[in-house]
Amino acid sequence: MVSLKRHRNAKNNASNHTDLITTVVHELKTPITTIKEAISLLSDLNYLKLDAKSKKILLIAREETNRLVRMVNNLLKVSIIEAGKLQLHLEPTKIEVIINQVLDSQSFTIQKKEMHIKTNCLHNSPTVIIDRDRLYDAIANLIDNALKFTPEKGTITIQTRQIKPGDIEYRKQHLNSKLKYLETTISDTGPGISKQDLTRIFKKFERIKAPIPIRGIGLGLTIAKNIIELHEGKIWASFNKSKGATFHFALPIK
Ligand SMILES: Nc1ncnc2c1ncn2[C@@H]1O[C@H](COP(=O)(O)OP(=O)(O)OP(=O)(O)O)[C@@H](O)[C@H]1O
Ligand SMILES: [Mg+2]
Repeated sequence: MVSLKRHRNAKNNASNHTDLITTVVHELKTPITTIKEAISLLSDLNYLKLDAKSKKILLIAREETNRLVRMVNNLLKVSIIEAGKLQLHLEPTKIEVIINQVLDSQSFTIQKKEMHIKTNCLHNSPTVIIDRDRLYDAIANLIDNALKFTPEKGTITIQTRQIKPGDIEYRKQHLNSKLKYLETTISDTGPGISKQDLTRIFKKFERIKAPIPIRGIGLGLTIAKNIIELHEGKIWASFNKSKGATFHFALPIK
């Protein structure tokens, strides 16, 4: 009886905690959006008239606000997912369309860090039934990590392939043997992930200690995992002895 009460209290505390985060995040959203709009307005109106130092300050303010917006949006997404309130709007889609949209949106960072992007996506890849916006979020978080953790002039490789029953991944990832899957792999030439961290990093707020601290709060992979699993798919990281990190996700082809 006592333990049941304690369990209920713990559950209530957890849901109060989630409610609190949601409220705080909602409250933060409006002022941050206003600051973001003010900065873009200032950039649009005055950018050419500014001296080099002011241009640099404006650029930093813009990047930092974008980071804040991303962080607040990620916190909001996690609380929506945890409350079981994420609804999927499923549509037949080619995954490479979403991959290209994400790469377009990251073109500034790709150029700034002089990264090489190799895509080897299946021509005429099978259609998957997905929520495009949510899949965009999942892929954006994976590509954001690859760009963030890989040093300048590195390479990010994105590939797709079909996995069929009988492939080794079926057994390893406990895939449903009645289904075929489309697997997307994103690998980079960064520091990689050690064997003991391969599953831990998908948990909320889990990050690997790096010699040079790299910004983030540890939500991107939790969001990606939840989104892929809501699509009855699987996501995992694999270990390469000499290469960087490799992330895979498999979506059922229906
Ligand atoms: N491509 C990668 N290369 C090396 N380490 C990675 C890579 N992707 C993820 N990780 C490790 O997994 C951790 C968790 O990733 P996750 O995306 O959840 O959080 P984050 O990037 O640190 O923060 P956020 O996504 O919330 O901005 C990272 O902090 C990092 O230690
Ligand atoms: Mg991340």
